[in-house]
Amino acid sequence: MFTPYKHEPFTDFTIEANKQELLTAIKQVEANLGGHYPLVINGERVETDDTISSYNPANKQELIGTTGKATKAHAEQAIEAASTAFESWRTVAPAERANILVRAAAIVRRRKHEFTALLIKEAGKPWKEADADTAEGIDFMEYYARQMVELAEGKSVHSREGELNRYIYTPTGVTVVISPWNFAFAIMAGTTVAPLVTGNTVLLKPASTTPVVAAKFVEVLEEAGVPKGVINFVPGSGSEVGDYLVEHPKTALITFTGSRDVGVRLYEKAAIVQAGQNHLKRVIVEMGGKDTVVVDNEADIDTAVEAIVISAFGFSGQKCSAGSRAVIHEDLYDEVVAKVVEKTEALTVGNPADATNYYMGPVIDQAAFDKITGYIEIGKSEGKLVAGGKSDDAEGYFIHPTVFADVDPKARIMQEEIFGPVLAISKASTFAEALEIANNTEYGLTGAVITNNRAKIEQAKQDFHVGNLYFNRNCTGAIVGYHPFGGFKMSGTDSKAGGPDYLTLHMQAKTISEMF
Ligand code: NAD
Ligand code: ALA
Repeated sequence: MFTPYKHEPFTDFTIEANKQELLTAIKQVEANLGGHYPLVINGERVETDDTISSYNPANKQELIGTTGKATKAHAEQAIEAASTAFESWRTVAPAERANILVRAAAIVRRRKHEFTALLIKEAGKPWKEADADTAEGIDFMEYYARQMVELAEGKSVHSREGELNRYIYTPTGVTVVISPWNFAFAIMAGTTVAPLVTGNTVLLKPASTTPVVAAKFVEVLEEAGVPKGVINFVPGSGSEVGDYLVEHPKTALITFTGSRDVGVRLYEKAAIVQAGQNHLKRVIVEMGGKDTVVVDNEADIDTAVEAIVISAFGFSGQKCSAGSRAVIHEDLYDEVVAKVVEKTEALTVGNPADATNYYMGPVIDQAAFDKITGYIEIGKSEGKLVAGGKSDDAEGYFIHPTVFADVDPKARIMQEEIFGPVLAISKASTFAEALEIANNTEYGLTGAVITNNRAKIEQAKQDFHVGNLYFNRNCTGAIVGYHPFGGFKMSGTDSKAGGPDYLTLHMQAKTISEMF
């Protein structure tokens, strides 16, 4: 029915025509800044007393737009709307739901540079990262559409004489989607369309720093044919409306991507059976990372340096997958560190909306800026500052890529998620010790090993305890359908977004046995 899945190609901005198209899209987005996007409940635009204002992190005076801000009363209305809409949406044929996703993907693909430009302005993403974010969102829609069609028939089970057995997947119910700002399009879109295509109805609560791109996506879903009440847009305070939605007795499924502390709290709250609740809530929680690039003494040095720098500083280290720590074998340590410093110092930092196409833009907001610069101060007492350390929040929240060498594996900057452009490096005297250090955090999301030794690759496959393990490359940039994504330990429930098992987490398996 559909063509075979292939991931969306990335745009090559060294081609002048592509660069000009993006610059035109940035101008168009800039010309339309400041719009207002109300809540969407049961297909109606709902105005609110309070609003959320979204500002450009590269230019903090520039308003990207405002959205409505839901109160508990709005959340209640949205739950009721989603609950009513569920009764019809759950009966819509899976192929029809899948078609809506493919239509939505086509709409976004036609407006690809517009979404990329909006991510550049609202999330401060450099071009390459913004383009990859838009592409990943398209991929989630295309991939999950095809997965749903495959799952529609259920899975095969045995039947005995005179008996017909079937094993099928049915929708779960009202789903609360709570998304982060760092993949403001891809993760927001992916975690929204997965419950939709599996027959659930959705309340989308995006991150308060990037609500405009989410509002634009809700418009796309409506244009693609998602019926009233099936998608509800309820931006609001995490602690007020987020908690309310998670605790609500009619909520059946919660899908959260964000920080460890918030995720753990929601996981605990969702476990409590509320008055009037007659089911146990399903919870998908994907949280932070403190991801490591391990460099063995039998490694190609240029591959190692490239992997370390890309993993640490892509999107200013604001990825759960960011390689914010490197563990390097003592035989190569000095040479690799020197080359990492050289490469880091060559990275450019500036406003991503400029024609320059900087490697790094700003960090997301003042709170992030303060937290990251605070960790840089901590780092000065925990290691040797060998690159960066500079920051400037006069116009936007700019922090230069920063490297600390000779850091103790138990130091705070080696253990805590900084979520910014700060790399900590430790030395190991053996490969086994390097793996031990790599495993010594509470997280287990991604990791990379740089080695040319086959036995060590096999050892790392067994012993490096992370959800996404890469060899001889960076530890960021998982692609939907190619590198299913999700972490172990305190990184989350290992849901593996963009993987073959993801959609079934949103459904209830039902066994039907008929005698004849
Ligand atoms: P965050 O936890 O601050 O916020 C995530 C979402 O939760 C936002 O929508 C926020 O409004 C909401 N929220 C905050 N407090 C809440 C509460 N009390 N109740 C309900 N909702 C609440 O995270 P963030 O800063 O947006 O994102 C960065 C974090 O996300 C990092 O830790 C990063 O590692 C993680 N992340 C993980 C993955 C993954 O797949 N594992 C992917 C992207 C980001
Ligand atoms: N999919 C994103 C990455 O792998 C989170 O970097």
